[in-house]
Amino acid sequence: MTGQDASWTDEPTDYDEQGKLRRSREEPRGRSSLGSLNITAASTDAALLELPWDVALEEWPAANLAALPRGISRHIVRFAHLSGAVIAIKETGEHIARHEYHMLRKLQRLDIPCVEPVAVITGRRTPDGAELDPVLVTRHLKFSLPYRAVFSQMLRRKTLTRLIDAQALLLVQLHLIGFYWGDVSLSNTLFRRDAGAFAAYLVDAETGELYPSLSEGQREYDLEIARVNIAGELMDLLEGGLIEENVDPVATSELIMDSYRGLWEELTRKESFDPEARWRVAERIRRLNELGFDVEEYAIETTPDGSQVQLQPKVIDAGHHSRRLMQLTGLDAQENQARRLLADLDSYRHDTMPHVDEAIGAHSWLMHIFEPIVRSIPRDLAGKLEPAEVVHQVLEHRWYISEQQNRNVPLAETVQSYMNSVLRHRRDEAAIMLNPDTCTLKNLEGGAADGQDGNGTS
Ligand SMILES: Nc1ncnc2c1ncn2[C@@H]1O[C@H](COP(=O)(O)OP(=O)(O)OP(=O)(O)O)[C@@H](O)[C@H]1O
Ligand SMILES: [Mg+2]
Repeated sequence: MTGQDASWTDEPTDYDEQGKLRRSREEPRGRSSLGSLNITAASTDAALLELPWDVALEEWPAANLAALPRGISRHIVRFAHLSGAVIAIKETGEHIARHEYHMLRKLQRLDIPCVEPVAVITGRRTPDGAELDPVLVTRHLKFSLPYRAVFSQMLRRKTLTRLIDAQALLLVQLHLIGFYWGDVSLSNTLFRRDAGAFAAYLVDAETGELYPSLSEGQREYDLEIARVNIAGELMDLLEGGLIEENVDPVATSELIMDSYRGLWEELTRKESFDPEARWRVAERIRRLNELGFDVEEYAIETTPDGSQVQLQPKVIDAGHHSRRLMQLTGLDAQENQARRLLADLDSYRHDTMPHVDEAIGAHSWLMHIFEPIVRSIPRDLAGKLEPAEVVHQVLEHRWYISEQQNRNVPLAETVQSYMNSVLRHRRDEAAIMLNPDTCTLKNLEGGAADGQDGNGTS
C-alpha cells in the first residue's frame, strides 16, 4: 500500500439495533475526503494494510489474488490472500458495504450460517488522487461451492432437490430470527457438502433487513422471490447444458415452496391435545430434535374449560446435532455430518463400552475412530473435502464395502480403500472457483461432483 494513512474504526456496538443502519451515521466524511483509508474491522489484522487498496480491484496484481477465475456478479468480487487465509473482496457503494457488514455481524451473532465479515474499507484513492469504490471484505468460506460448481457434472434430480431443501432450511432459519432477505437466490447462497446433503450459507446480505419478527406476508414474499430467482437460475443452467433437458425449471423451483412451508409448519405449529396425553410434549420435542432443532422455549396453554392443552414452540434453534457433537467431542461439524457422526459414536459406545459414561465413550470414539481417519488423509488429498465430511464418507464406505464383501471390513482397511478408490479421484473443494463459466465447469474433472458420496450409494 502506498502513500495512504489508514484510520481504524472500532467495531460498531449497535448489534441490538433492528433493521437498516441510518445513513447519517455512516460516512466519516472528513477522513475519506482527505484521501486516507478508513477501515472498519472486527479485529485489527495489520496484513490488511499490505493489500493494494490504491488499485482498482480489476487491476490487482496476480500475486495478491487467490488463483481463482473471476466470476459473474453485479459487483466486482475477487479472492485475495490475507495472512495465510483467503478473503473475498467486493467493490461496492459505501452504504451497501456498511449495511452488509453490519447485517453479517448480526447474523453471525445469531448463529446463522453466513460468510464472516472482515472489514469495510472506504476512502480508497489511486496514487494520483482518483477515488475508488469502497470494499466489503469477507472471509472466504472454505469448502463452499457456488451452486454452479455443484453442477460440474450433469445434474441429478436428487442433487437438485437436496440443494433446494438446503436453501429452504436456510430461509426458515433466517425467517425465524426475523431476517427478511429480499434477494433469495442460489447465487446468493453458498453450499457445503453435509453428509450426503448440503448445508446452505448466506453470502449476500445486501438487501436484508432484520425485524423483531416477520409477518406471514413478508415471509411469503421472500419465498416468492426465491421461487422466481431459482427458476431463472435453473433456466440458465439448462441453457448451459448443465441439467438434463427433462428437468422443468419452473416446476423444480416450486419445490422450495413445499420444502419451506412443510418445515415452517412443523416448527411453529400450535398443537392441541387431551390433557391426559402429556407425552405429546416430549414427542413433539423429540421430532423437532430429529429435524435438527432445539426448542429453547415453548408455550403451553390450557383451554378455559380445561379440556385441551395447546403446545407451541416459541424459540427454536437450528443445530441440535452439531451442538450435541460439540459438547461431547469438541468437534465443529455441520448438522447432517454431526447427525451421522453421533450415530456412529452411539453404536461405537454400544458395541465397545455400553456401561461407561457418555463423555468417556465420546472421548474414546474420538481417539480410536475419528482422529485416526483424519490423520490418515494424505497431505496431498487434504484439500479435497472437509475432515468431518471425509470421516462421514469413510463410515459410509465401510458399510458399502462390508456389504459388498459380506464381512466386517476393519477400519484401517476401509480407510486405505477409501483414500485410494474414492478420495484420490475427487477434485479439490477447499477453494473452489468463484462462479466458473459453463465451459470451465464442463472441463472440470471430478468424481462425484454432483452430490454423490462417491460410493455410488446415494
Ligand atoms: N466470503 C465468500 N466466500 C466464498 N465465496 C464468496 C464470498 N463472498 C462472495 N463470494 C462469491 O462471490 C459471488 C458474488 O458475491 P455477492 O453475491 O456478494 O456479489 P453481488 O455482486 O452483490 O451479487 P448480486 O449480483 O447478487 O448483487 C457469490 O455468489 C460467491 O460465489
Ligand atoms: Mg449476489
